[in-house]
Amino acid sequence: MSLAWLVLFPVAAFVIFLVVLLFIFFSIPSRRDFHFFRRHAIVTGGSKGIGYQLAVGLIERGCHVTIVARNVKDLQKACEELQILADQRGQQQKVQWKSIDMTAEYDVIKAAFDECAKELGPIDILINNAGHSVQAPFCDLPVTDFEKQMKVNYLSAVYATRAVVDDMKARKTGHISFVSSAAGQFAIFGYSAYSPTKFALRGFADTLHMELLPYKVNVAVLYPPNTDTEGFKLELETMPEETKLMSDAAGLFTPKHVAEAHLKDIADGNYTTTIGLDGWMLGCLTAGACPEKSLFRALTQSALAGVFRAITLVYLGYFNGITKKCYRRRLEEPKEKEEKKE
Ligand SMILES: NC(=O)c1ccc[n+]([C@@H]2O[C@H](COP(=O)([O-])OP(=O)(O)OC[C@H]3O[C@@H](n4cnc5c(N)ncnc54)[C@H](OP(=O)(O)O)[C@@H]3O)[C@@H](O)[C@H]2O)c1
Repeated sequence: MSLAWLVLFPVAAFVIFLVVLLFIFFSIPSRRDFHFFRRHAIVTGGSKGIGYQLAVGLIERGCHVTIVARNVKDLQKACEELQILADQRGQQQKVQWKSIDMTAEYDVIKAAFDECAKELGPIDILINNAGHSVQAPFCDLPVTDFEKQMKVNYLSAVYATRAVVDDMKARKTGHISFVSSAAGQFAIFGYSAYSPTKFALRGFADTLHMELLPYKVNVAVLYPPNTDTEGFKLELETMPEETKLMSDAAGLFTPKHVAEAHLKDIADGNYTTTIGLDGWMLGCLTAGACPEKSLFRALTQSALAGVFRAITLVYLGYFNGITKKCYRRRLEEPKEKEEKKE
């Protein structure tokens, strides 16, 4: 290779890189910082776990907060704790609770949300967090579980969003979050009823983000990994062996850590919140056609998606190995029992 080529090649590569950079820069929507102070936030599933920690973080940032769940005792207890925290800040922040089953019909949810707005003012922030998971191999799940999971994890968020979005559009301000899951990016053994509901949230949020751009209403998605909550502990009790072995690889995070990461992303106007190294890798890998407002994130996704695909194939191979190993062991169990009897 001649000397001229040795110089020209890196220069050409650099120019192409700059052009790509400029294209990406002018293609991504501008990030809008979001201010929490004196805003009214509703957190569904705010009496426990991730939702409760999101409510704590919202109070620490100056919001009035409504927490929504079904169990009245849990709501009262959480609300008292949150009000103490709010009073300590001395900013006259208000906290209220509302018992709503988020699997109810749209009209019920709309009426309840309207009441919340009457008490603490128009709803500026909606965090769609209520949800839970059932896990079992597909053929062991009653088909009704698929409907129930869709209702609590997906339709509840659609209805809640519908109940607040017209007002946000009219006021040209607001924020709507969806709490998906790492299982809404990477579906594994046992999650045939749960994962699709969390993937669905991502599709809904992608569309909504585009439609609400002109109205200055932000949309964001949080993908929690295994998080140390009551809900997760309950999950562990019924989790199939395969799912347990696979999800052990992902570690365990505190709800505080997850909630803080998301509130920081909301403040910075980011669309996606992932947690930890695995979460970051999955976020880059599954970014696909989802919105992106950070140039740095856009560049890392563009540069690293291929490498992360290769790493994910290794994970998939490992998980497929677990599935086969557990299957073989179960086949051998009856034989071993018979041998022992003899
Ligand atoms: N923890 C994890 O490892 C993890 C991982 C990924 C994603 N997530 C997602 O993060 C969200 C929160 O999970 P979490 O672990 O914090 O759960 P959690 O500790 O079980 O808390 C769930 C909250 O949602 C409320 N809720 C459940 N069903 C409801 C309904 N039908 N209507 C109204 N409220 C309802 C619960 O209160 P009531 O029971 O009183 O209604 C509670 O306040 C869920 O969407 C979950 O899928 C969790």
